[in-house]
Amino acid sequence: MSKVALVTGGTRGIGRAISERLSRDGYKVAANYAGNDDAAQKCAAEIGVDVFKFDVGDYDACAEGIAAITEKLGPVDVLVNNAGITRDAMLHKMTREMWDDVIRVDLTSAFNLCHAVIESMRERNFGRIINISSINGQKGQMGQVNYSAAKAGLIGFTKALAQETARKGITVNTVCPGYVDTDMVAAVPEKVLNGIIAGIPMGRLGKAEEIAGCVAFLASDDAAFMTGSTLTANGAQYIT
Ligand code: CAA
Repeated sequence: MSKVALVTGGTRGIGRAISERLSRDGYKVAANYAGNDDAAQKCAAEIGVDVFKFDVGDYDACAEGIAAITEKLGPVDVLVNNAGITRDAMLHKMTREMWDDVIRVDLTSAFNLCHAVIESMRERNFGRIINISSINGQKGQMGQVNYSAAKAGLIGFTKALAQETARKGITVNTVCPGYVDTDMVAAVPEKVLNGIIAGIPMGRLGKAEEIAGCVAFLASDDAAFMTGSTLTANGAQYIT
């Protein structure tokens, strides 16, 4: 029987590529999204996945979202915590709201969703949790104390939960993409972005499909002994 995969922020950018890849690999995919109905309908029509609208930063909405997915597709076997936002500014110009929004959507969301699926995964002795962090959680990025903190937080979250769940057949891993050709990266001021690309030894941005390939591997049986790890895909921009 097909496994069920939930991809948060799964209708655009890297998330959409992950939804598409997992669907092609035979998973029943639930692609979550927060607000862009047009992109979600386009994604559903083009790649044939079910879309579910809820705010990953809202604890109760996540519990309700997981219940709706379970009812329609079955219990979640693979959870990809991909949804993320940026609210970039130097710390001295960052508002409290910019801090809170990013921590809520990029970090607290992982708690909300893991909490909603973990009992079921424990009962079934199987689960794959894949947290999408960022190069900027590894190295820190000027203009992103909020995002860097949230993405670094996901790495610690992964390492702790991996130890808790190791004996229950549940693996928990992080993928750290570098700068990938998405709307989020396109929003970086052109002059800054050109400087960033010049600093990538491969000389180009990543492709969303290249990150989806990492996720597909971590979700597969080939990665059964891999847990608590951080998989880095950044064109050698930052080597840990
Ligand atoms: N790398 C190198 N230099 C940077 C930089 C970066 N990422 N971001 C800003 N700077 C530099 C600017 O070039 C500028 O230098 P000069 O004074 O020499 O021109 C200086 O910092 C100040 O920048 P601004 O004039 O733009 O200052 P601002 O207060 O108007 O804006 C900012 C600051 C909001 C941080 C803006 O520069 C910005 O958006 N920078 C991009 C930050 C960034 O890299 N975000 C990543 C988004 S993509 C992502 O997050 C996905 C992922 O996981 C990788």
